[in-house]
Amino acid sequence: MSQKILIMDFGGQYNQLIARRVRECNVYCEIKSYRMTVEEIKAYDPMGIIFTGGPNSVYLETSPHVDPAVFELGIPILGICYGCQLMAHTLGGLVTEAQEDSAREYGKTQTFFDTTCKLFKGIPAEGITWMSHGDYMAKVPEGFSLVGRTDACPNVAIADESRGFYGVQYHPEVNHTQHGTDMIRNFLYEVCGAKGEWTMGDFCAKAVANLKETIGPEGRVLLALSGGVDSSVLAALLAEAVGNRLTCVFVDHGCMRKNEGDEVEAAFSKWNVNFVRVNAEERFLSKLKGVEDPQRKRQIIGAEFGYVFLDEAVKFGITKSDFFAQGTIYPDVIESGEGEAAVIKSHHNKLLPREVIEQFKAVLEPLDHLFKDEIRLLGKELGLPDYLVYRQPFPGPGLAIRILGEVTKEKLDTLREADWIFREEIGKHECRKDCSQYFAVLTNAKSVGVMGDGRTYENTLVLRSVTTSDFMTAEWTRIPYEVLDRVSVRIVNEVPHINRIAYDITSKPPATVEWE
Ligand code: XMP
Repeated sequence: MSQKILIMDFGGQYNQLIARRVRECNVYCEIKSYRMTVEEIKAYDPMGIIFTGGPNSVYLETSPHVDPAVFELGIPILGICYGCQLMAHTLGGLVTEAQEDSAREYGKTQTFFDTTCKLFKGIPAEGITWMSHGDYMAKVPEGFSLVGRTDACPNVAIADESRGFYGVQYHPEVNHTQHGTDMIRNFLYEVCGAKGEWTMGDFCAKAVANLKETIGPEGRVLLALSGGVDSSVLAALLAEAVGNRLTCVFVDHGCMRKNEGDEVEAAFSKWNVNFVRVNAEERFLSKLKGVEDPQRKRQIIGAEFGYVFLDEAVKFGITKSDFFAQGTIYPDVIESGEGEAAVIKSHHNKLLPREVIEQFKAVLEPLDHLFKDEIRLLGKELGLPDYLVYRQPFPGPGLAIRILGEVTKEKLDTLREADWIFREEIGKHECRKDCSQYFAVLTNAKSVGVMGDGRTYENTLVLRSVTTSDFMTAEWTRIPYEVLDRVSVRIVNEVPHINRIAYDITSKPPATVEWE
């Protein structure tokens, strides 16, 4: 049996977090659709399965279900929230809509555990869990015992230890659940027999060997390099695999931050790799003219990026044995709608035109199963300098998705200056260690102000900073008032056309990091 965990996706909002927690426990996992057949599951050969939460009610015919044969495979299963109810429903229990308000549970809830159960081994018998369920298990299936309860509900955790089946109605993957990761770790190590073999050193060696094999002794690779963490780490990985058969192409679409193009060029010229810079500002801005819708902007930039890249590749003399590489990471894939959950936003690297892709032998995306903090660990493993590994992320579509409404050169220049001041001031203050990503957003809201003796009617700028390690959930950063004050005064004084500054105090969820 393999050392992989299969996470079956029923559309829950915390599914990526489940995967994060499993990886944190040094166990490899992948999120796959609940539509996977039993035959496909057998072929995948996981050592354990996790059923995620989901927005549906399991007793409705239209809700996602599983083939009951999945319970006959002899593979341990942990059901979380909807996944727990699905297990109960499929194995002969009864799940109903909670009749009394007291049986519905949302938010932090005091919970009591049976610590003789493997799932709760070594954790305190009482603690807080994060609940979010409106349905109730009126009857648990035969063979299951009750191993967790709250005051309102006698069966928030159930187990059939002889078959390795566990179900919890709360979310152990969410930070609000005390010892939640320990419970997941117990499932992995105590129940599934994990050995903890998933480490970055191991991933790195395997990824380099795979790339060597796929690319072959002659193949060349063109890498779409933005200078951000993901594509820089990929550059290092590819350089390790194919040496100077790698060429990094940096497309400057004109929506970069102040000095960014030059900084990327300087960083990579210090490094012994083939580097090509393409200045394509006009091409992008003319395509973006008059466009206001965020998804449309993303699509245009994604597609144009592909065409510019292709033109460069033709100049370079690509052949059908050459490869195109890009630093797509796991959240890009999932948030772009390849899972069961709703499309949040289409990441630019998922929007390449087919006719561009077809010019290459294949597209290489070897990081597309890693999370942001894993990418950084890999960067360290490959010996990348800290100034590349710890750069704050910058989205592929750049400032175009930080300007609400139409993107113009004037607005870009305004935003570039304001964003620069914000970054400069944060960089000087010790609070920068809490600011995982910080930037300015130019809104399309105008407001009245007074400067000198005159009335102004100018733009509103929003400052955004988040504290996070994985960028899938994030807290807004508590930047000291004196820093915010200095930034505000400087921007209004130094940058024309801005007369009002707001600070964004929403976390993710419910907001996202970027505004568009
Ligand atoms: P959101 O806004 O989805 O962002 O909370 C999460 C992280 O992803 C970055 N982001 C992108 N990165 N291409 C990228 O390479 C994109 O299209 C894109 N959209 C968002 C965002 O900056 C944050 O770090």
